[in-house]
Amino acid sequence: MFKRIGVIGSGAMGRGIAQLFATAGVEVLLHDSRSEAIDQALAYNRETLERAAAKGRLSPEQLEATLARLRPAASLAELADCDLLIEAIVENLEAKQALFRELEALVAADAVLATNTSSLSVTRIASGCRHPERVAGFHFFNPVPLMKIVEVVRGERTDPAVIRRLAALAEQAGHFPASTPDTPGFLVNHAGRAYGTEALRILAEGVATPAQIDRILRDSLGFRMGPFELLDLIGLDVTQAVMESVYQQFYQDPRYTPSYLVAPRLAAGLLGRKSGEGFYRYVDGQIQHEA
Ligand code: NAI
Repeated sequence: MFKRIGVIGSGAMGRGIAQLFATAGVEVLLHDSRSEAIDQALAYNRETLERAAAKGRLSPEQLEATLARLRPAASLAELADCDLLIEAIVENLEAKQALFRELEALVAADAVLATNTSSLSVTRIASGCRHPERVAGFHFFNPVPLMKIVEVVRGERTDPAVIRRLAALAEQAGHFPASTPDTPGFLVNHAGRAYGTEALRILAEGVATPAQIDRILRDSLGFRMGPFELLDLIGLDVTQAVMESVYQQFYQDPRYTPSYLVAPRLAAGLLGRKSGEGFYRYVDGQIQHEA
């Protein structure tokens, strides 16, 4: 089993992944290139865990032990002793390749490198590494502690033992590991494209508003969230990168054409929950009304 996990990127996903494994009994170090992002993430985790304890889901002892297992790492060098590194940085191939090259120079030869990428090829991320066999996809969903599925993605050169170890770790944390090949969007973001892209097309055609589309899809088809609520949760910056990546990897198959509505909204900073406004306006993380 893994003894110490280093999580790189303390945004929406990194903080959730860190919390999940600290709760499951593993020591976790959390890093980000922006120190304030680490502080915010740890404060968020503390608040979430304290709320869980107040509701009786964690005993006071479990709360203290979990918080003690969750520590900041001001520099990458502090992750040298980790036997599993999970990156959840920006969805950009060059940035992820550069990070893995840097990590390879730091960590032990048998340490596993995992990427939480939503849509980039795991094989391509691993291609810059000296040991691509230790690289795999470990694709969680937002919010990580509540979304119990994780895709464990086999790159072309991933060692099957790495896949087995990650799957066992996911199970230890109470998650269901779904093993997937390294195809564009893996499974969830391949199937999920249609939900978001078609909803954006309906909006672009002026057929209905985001709130109307959300309500009808949520209430009639049984999805937990409507497509625009989901886009706001994921973040339009992440969504744009995923849409582009899947479209290019399928050689511009028109089925995956990104919506022209996204780029201008992105330029205007309407990212969703994380910027306080997307298709909806948010106050303290709660939807106020349609933007
Ligand atoms: P985010 O924007 O909330 O957080 C990313 C964090 O990474 C930021 O705090 C940023 O400062 C940090 N960062 C960027 N470059 C870095 C570097 N080189 N070294 C260290 N830190 C760096 O993004 P989010 O939503 O957490 O996404 C992260 C990854 O997870 C992306 O690959 C995304 O595709 C994937 N993902 C996102 C999901 C979502 O619903 N938002 C779901 C599943 C996967």
